[in-house]
Amino acid sequence: MSEASLDTLYEFAKRVAVQSGDDILMRGFHSSVKDVQRKGLTDLVTKYDRASEEFIFSEIRSHFPAHAVIAEEGSRSESAHDLVWYVDPLDATTNFAHGIPHFCVSIAVFSRSMKRTVVGVVYDPNRKELFTAMTGCGASCNGKQIQVSGIDKLSDSIIATGFPYGKQDERINNLPQVNKILSHVQCLRRMGSAALDLCYVASGRFDGYWEPMLFPWDTAAGALIVEEAGGLVSDYPGEAFDPVVPEIVASNGLIHDALQDLVKSSTEHLPRTIAKRVFF
Ligand code: IPD
Ligand code: CA
Ligand code: CA
Repeated sequence: MSEASLDTLYEFAKRVAVQSGDDILMRGFHSSVKDVQRKGLTDLVTKYDRASEEFIFSEIRSHFPAHAVIAEEGSRSESAHDLVWYVDPLDATTNFAHGIPHFCVSIAVFSRSMKRTVVGVVYDPNRKELFTAMTGCGASCNGKQIQVSGIDKLSDSIIATGFPYGKQDERINNLPQVNKILSHVQCLRRMGSAALDLCYVASGRFDGYWEPMLFPWDTAAGALIVEEAGGLVSDYPGEAFDPVVPEIVASNGLIHDALQDLVKSSTEHLPRTIAKRVFF
C-alpha cells in the first residue's frame, strides 16, 4: 500500500465522481449538442466522455502524481506504483447519446501488491445515487449500507447482462448465453451500464449479472461494491474476479453456482483465448 490512506483515496474518489457526474455529464446530457463520434461501428464517444475524463485524470495527477492511471478514453499515467486507478468517465455512452437517463461515472483504485481493488465508487447523476465501497468496510449507497438480495432460486431472479460492441462476431455476441439462461430466470434486463448493473446486484435490485468483453474501468469499482455488499464475483470458469479478465459473473452468492454453470456451459464453444487486458 502507499503513503496516502485508504480514507483519503475514498473521499477523493467520491468527490471527483460526483463533481464530474453533476457538473460535466448532467450539463452535457441536457445540452442539445453532444458531439457524438464513433470509435467503432457502434461504439460511441462524446465530448462529455472526454471532458469528464480530462477532469478526473487531472485531479488524480495533481493529488497522486506517483500513482498509475488507466482511463477508458486513452489517458494513461504509466507507473510501477502499487496503486492503479481505473476510470470510466461515462459508463453507458450509448444511453447518454440517445437521451436515456441511465449512465454513471466509475472510479476504482486497485492495489497490485494486494491483487485486489481497494476503493470503488460509482455515481449515477440522474438519480443522485453514489455507490461506494472500501475493502473490508462494507458497501453503501449515499452513505447507507447496502446488501445483496436473499433470493435463492434462479427462477425467482432478475439477471442483468449486456452485449459487446463486437457483437457482429457471433463467437462473442453473448447470444448463446442469453438463449441458455432466459428460460431459467424470472427475467433478464439489459440496462446499458455495466458499472450500474453491478451496483444493482450489490443493492439487491438485481440478483445476478454476467457479461463478456469488458474492461477494468467497467468492472473494478462495481465488483468491489458487490463483494462488500455480501455478493460473489467470478470469471466464467468460476475463478476469483480479476479486473483484467474480460468476462464477469456477479451475484448475491446464493444463485452464483447455478448462474455461473449456465454461463460456463453455454460458453464451451468459444475459444478460451480472450486474453487478459494489458495496458503497459
Ligand atoms: C459499456 C456499458 C455497457 C456494456 C458495454 C460497455 P461504455 O460501456 O457498460 O453496459 O454492455 O460492454 O462497454 O462504452 O458506455 O463506457
Ligand atoms: Ca465509457
Ligand atoms: Ca464502460
